[in-house]
Amino acid sequence: MKDLVFDYTRATDFFRMEELAEMAPAAEWAAKRLTSGQGPGSEFTGWIDWPVETDRHEMERILACADRLREKADILVVVGIGGSYLGTKAALSMLEPAFDWLKAAVSRTSPHIIFAGTQLSGTYHQELLKALEGRDFAVNVISKSGTTTEPAVAFRALRRMLEERYGEAGARDRIVATTDSTSGALRKLALEKGYETFVVPDDVGGRFSVLTAVGLLPMAVAGLDIQAMMAGAVRMRERSQLPFGENPALQYAAMRNIFLRKGKEIEIMTYYEPGFQYLAEWWKQLYGESEGKDGKGIFPASAGFTTDLHSMGQYIQDGRRQLFETVLLVEEPPADLTIEEVEGNPDGLNYLAGKTLNYVNAMAAEGTLQAHTEGGVPNLLIRLPEITEAQLGALFYFYEIACGVSGLLLGVNPFDQPGVEAYKKNMFRLLGKP
Ligand code: PA5
Repeated sequence: MKDLVFDYTRATDFFRMEELAEMAPAAEWAAKRLTSGQGPGSEFTGWIDWPVETDRHEMERILACADRLREKADILVVVGIGGSYLGTKAALSMLEPAFDWLKAAVSRTSPHIIFAGTQLSGTYHQELLKALEGRDFAVNVISKSGTTTEPAVAFRALRRMLEERYGEAGARDRIVATTDSTSGALRKLALEKGYETFVVPDDVGGRFSVLTAVGLLPMAVAGLDIQAMMAGAVRMRERSQLPFGENPALQYAAMRNIFLRKGKEIEIMTYYEPGFQYLAEWWKQLYGESEGKDGKGIFPASAGFTTDLHSMGQYIQDGRRQLFETVLLVEEPPADLTIEEVEGNPDGLNYLAGKTLNYVNAMAAEGTLQAHTEGGVPNLLIRLPEITEAQLGALFYFYEIACGVSGLLLGVNPFDQPGVEAYKKNMFRLLGKP
């Protein structure tokens, strides 16, 4: 497997190498605290060793359950919010062919995965129920706490639909719950109803759970190679133990904090493959919830290029200079299209004849990098060799470990999310929750 590369060499106009050398021991110290369980929130660092600790039995159970659901249903509805769905959505957007959803159910080799409980829209959920009429579907309800309102409400409606259609026993065969090992309303309900269950480990928080059953089960149902994904994560775990100079995650964490100290308070993840849109959403949740607290943090934003060069490009080039960019580039995208020569050159594009779209995209990326750098926006690069399960596993782990280190460098507990409670308190009061 080729390794991803973190490259800060295109941002050297914006920091001094001595600053990076000074930050290196702090990053190594933070990594040591993180991995030895001494930092704040250390009771939620089970994800660090999870790729090497997941036992074979758990993997086999996930794969067997996925096979069962694949046989039973044309559609799997994943019910969950935040860390309980974003990783799966990111993986599917990156790894499934973009237009697979156009295929009729009969010609698909894997069930179509759709999502519910990711918000509280009545329109979305009513339309979803309508769309599921007459379709064979199964449900994977995922909630670590087992008490989150959004998935609980959606699951209530879907469960009822399954029970009315297939009876209690038929519904039981089509519902799998992924939740806490002992507590929460979902665990209780799963026990009462006899659903197959998977556990979100106690020491793994929602936004760090993509490589547990939370992400692995629905990905396996979709036909992704979850073993290759875990192997990629294992490889990145090894690299994350190397000294600073060879450790991409530590370098990324260090560079973010160097830029923050220079007033670059907003990081924009940019990418040139539309399939990365939900990876960016997953990353925003990971970094936003982990770092945005105690009046601190880097605001994580994202922009998909070249699309957003026609919307956000103006601001990035020319607006307030509190930005830095981390660009996700793919060395070898999975497919390509060659631009053909057209007689008479009516659209003036013959100068591109024989070139591929990926080449044009790469030139757009280089041109943008030069322009944004000249405009005062430092550009960090993450070079992904290819888009595969193994690379994504490595990338998930890279972002997670860098997030833990970066949070400790920032001086926050990266593993809690006290601010999320504020809206819930008000909402429950307004709803008259007993
Ligand atoms: O990272 C987190 O802990 C959160 O974003 C959760 O993933 C999200 O709130 C969903 O929680 P739960 O899985 O308990 O329903």
